[in-house]
Amino acid sequence: MISRRALLTGAGVALAAGPLRAAPTPLSLADSAKGAGLLYGASIGQEALDDPAYAALYRRQTSILTTDVALKFDWLRPTPDRFDFSYADAILGFALDSGKPLRGHTLIWNDRAPDWLKRLPGREVERIFDDHIERVVSRYAGKLYAWDVVNEPFWPLDGKSGGWRDGPWFAAMGPSYVERAFRRVAAIDKTGRLALNEAQCDNDHDWGKSIRPLLAGLVERLLDAGAPLDTVGLQSHLQPQWPADYPAFAHYIEGFAARGLTVSITEFDVNDSVFPDDVAARDRAVAATGATFLNAVLAVPAVDMVVNWQLSDRYSWYRELSRRPPRVLPFDDADRAKPLASAMTAAFAAAPPRRLPAPRRQ
Ligand code: XIL
Repeated sequence: MISRRALLTGAGVALAAGPLRAAPTPLSLADSAKGAGLLYGASIGQEALDDPAYAALYRRQTSILTTDVALKFDWLRPTPDRFDFSYADAILGFALDSGKPLRGHTLIWNDRAPDWLKRLPGREVERIFDDHIERVVSRYAGKLYAWDVVNEPFWPLDGKSGGWRDGPWFAAMGPSYVERAFRRVAAIDKTGRLALNEAQCDNDHDWGKSIRPLLAGLVERLLDAGAPLDTVGLQSHLQPQWPADYPAFAHYIEGFAARGLTVSITEFDVNDSVFPDDVAARDRAVAATGATFLNAVLAVPAVDMVVNWQLSDRYSWYRELSRRPPRVLPFDDADRAKPLASAMTAAFAAAPPRRLPAPRRQ
């Protein structure tokens, strides 16, 4: 007879029921995504290089990586005359070692420009723009899956006509900086897919509503001008504190698909600030929001990947922004899968199949 204690602990069960079988390992997020022809990944930074368990989580769960800060201008260019590629090289090394394609985020962004750049006259800023693209893209040409060539071109709150985000590149060149960047990158890197990456479009608050048509208009103009644009990156830092209409967002994505572009979900996480303190309730609410979003957008076959902004809550950028430890990502502080991970797996499994995009157009 099996004792009560053995029933609770499992001891003795093997004798009674034959050899114990290991529980089946749940499919990784990458494997679930692969079933639908999707890539799944996360942004990655120094944390994964320093923390072996976190590195293992990337190796197991992802099929694509994105640099978090390592390729940003302010990290590469601590001073006007110095390039420091060591961090970006280390991230690329990790990606190569683990056999994951890497997205390069981001070459040109008007935000987070170093003070030394802001102080320079326009003509000098233009020279640095061209030189920066030349140096960085030449170093990594042929080694990256994609580049976020330009990040966040619009920010109507800056008050510029046309809703453009202000910053040194825009101040020196006006809106033409975007097409110039795409053409210069394409001239050097013949294989990396070229993305225009934007924030806020998934929201139905005033910013989302104003940025969506601005981005669509820019994409139309770039394509009509023959600029080498392959994909639109939509960050998708979901913010359930604001109204959202994810089926309408999916319809918006279809507009890019109709122009022959893919759409990448590039920075997915779910802001949990309006959800309860209770962890289980909060995790359920985050998962439900993520599921509604993914079920809507993955119905569009032009969506080629879903990338989280980091993998575990411990390293989310919301750490710096939240009043309590955030629970915005598929894995918790101890790298355990959360309800959001299950919701994502289910959404990947339900997504209509698609083919991974061909290498970029020449
Ligand atoms: C974030 C980084 O992850 C943080 O470490 C940094 O402090 C701020 O920037 N949209 C983007 C990303 O395009 O580059 C930002 O990354 C998050 C919002």
